Amino acid sequence: MNIDPIAQAHSDRLFAVIQQRIADAGGKIPFADYMQLCLHTPGLGYYSAGSQKFGKHGDYTTAPEISPLFSQTLARHIQDIRQQLSEFNLLEFGAGSGKMAADILLQLERDKALPDHYYIIEASADLQYRQREYLSSTIPNLFEKVIWLDQLPAQFVGVIVANEVCDAMPLHRLHFSQDAWQECHITINNGVLEWVDGPLSNASLKQRTELISQHHDQTEFFAEVNLAAEGWVASLADCLQQGAIFIIDYGHDRASYYHPERSQGTLMCYVQHHGHDNPLILPGLQDITSHVEFTALAEMALSCGLDVEGFQTQADFLLAGGIIELLAAQSSGDVTLDSFSQTTAIKRLTLPSEMGESFKALTLTKGLPELLPRLRLADRRYSL
Ligand SMILES: C[S@@+](CC[C@H](N)C(=O)[O-])C[C@H]1O[C@@H](n2cnc3c(N)ncnc32)[C@H](O)[C@@H]1O
Repeated sequence: MNIDPIAQAHSDRLFAVIQQRIADAGGKIPFADYMQLCLHTPGLGYYSAGSQKFGKHGDYTTAPEISPLFSQTLARHIQDIRQQLSEFNLLEFGAGSGKMAADILLQLERDKALPDHYYIIEASADLQYRQREYLSSTIPNLFEKVIWLDQLPAQFVGVIVANEVCDAMPLHRLHFSQDAWQECHITINNGVLEWVDGPLSNASLKQRTELISQHHDQTEFFAEVNLAAEGWVASLADCLQQGAIFIIDYGHDRASYYHPERSQGTLMCYVQHHGHDNPLILPGLQDITSHVEFTALAEMALSCGLDVEGFQTQADFLLAGGIIELLAAQSSGDVTLDSFSQTTAIKRLTLPSEMGESFKALTLTKGLPELLPRLRLADRRYSL
């Protein structure tokens, strides 16, 4: 892997910030705090600084970057909600390059179903800038609809979408060993970042350890808990007056998430399309992520007054949304390079060995008068 001197100097500056934070905390910080610093330290974190993250020349590729068909199909699901609302706005969390926003808006324009506004809440100032540049040049006629917000509105009627956002939220990593639970912390020893166990840093983690223990019978294992993502769902429930939330991410129901075969947890890092499991190297230069525990999000949604309307694999969600019909409508029938690459993209999005099964779509709703038949295809809510 080639790390150029400028990138290395950038990482060294973030390392100094982490070192100071560890010193201020008396020698160690919870992994969740370390992950937050690595991804979101203003100007230095992986998402806050200016590197190319998405696509062929970045560190990883997300579904909207693979093919516009992903966002076009999501637009079809969005229209099912729109038909039931008296006003209609869209809100996207963590919009990455802005590609999904552009492709959703273009599809809604073709279908004569545009929202009043397309709001974006983006944690990274650098990505906000890139989104503005991309959207103003790609969809100049629709650009006035796009509005960036710093925080959730007090009230919202419409559809909220978040693709691969929960997995970028800082999570608590727990370690069960010698009949006791500890939380994984990060320390510095002789100038090198190291793991060290410490006490649970948040009162609600204690109750969670009891739940996790029901799924494991090993004497030692690691497990993650994403309290930030659960708090985020609660905040969405609070602001959504009527409409739906589509959360798409790689992840599992609780029994699969805490299955003994995942005894090392689900933490993963990506740099230059190379995946590995060591978040302690290259701070600020690599993405740190983990799978999403969807049962916890669904439980939080229910307790906050939302309905859990669907839980599907990405493949079933896209097939139910009509991805094949959308492809057929766009293809001339001739075998061209373009039709070949479209078919390859659909395979990447839907095959079980690719993104089709590891990614899931959780649909949460509030106040909708009618059911959503597309969400009944291979509905897996029973597994939550
Ligand atoms: C893995 S990228 C996914 C980008 C895009 N949704 C896609 O599918 O290509 C995660 C995105 O979420 C943003 N993000 C992470 N945490 C966030 C938060 N709490 N609020 C808003 N955006 C967040 C990141 O800056 C980044 O844009």
